[in-house]
Amino acid sequence: MTIHRLEKIWIGMGLALLVVFLALVGVAAFAFGMHPPTGHALGVEPERATEVPPFDRPGLVRNADGSYDAYVVAFAFGYSPATLEIPAGATVHFHVTSTDVVHGFSIPGTNVNAMVVPGEVNHVVHTFDKPGTYLLICNEYCGAAHEMMAGTVVVR
Ligand code: CUA
Repeated sequence: MTIHRLEKIWIGMGLALLVVFLALVGVAAFAFGMHPPTGHALGVEPERATEVPPFDRPGLVRNADGSYDAYVVAFAFGYSPATLEIPAGATVHFHVTSTDVVHGFSIPGTNVNAMVVPGEVNHVVHTFDKPGTYLLICNEYCGAAHEMMAGTVVVR
């Protein structure tokens, strides 16, 4: 089999790029210390999340600028608090964590859709302009009662 000279050059460029990219990954990992989340954002084991601030008091906190922070704990198979009451027009910064397995945090009809990883705190922001009752659902399969895992966001 003969390989055309231009084809050899082309293969060589592909291999060179592969080496460059692998080297960049190595530099990022070892020289700059980049790595995936460690699972210790809370400073405690995931099952103890509700023992430490801010998740020892899940719920809404009003900020000085009129926005809200919502601290929500996901667990098999529900959310704490199960219902959040939000004034219409409010911007809510959701902070969510899980005490057991990976759950979802999704409010259909909004841009709220986050994965909730045990030991990590995920953050998503939404402004609720339209009053109504919104469903909060888990969209990550998390066990036998996954489809029952839901909460409510009431905007009034
Ligand atoms: Cu939690 Cu599915």
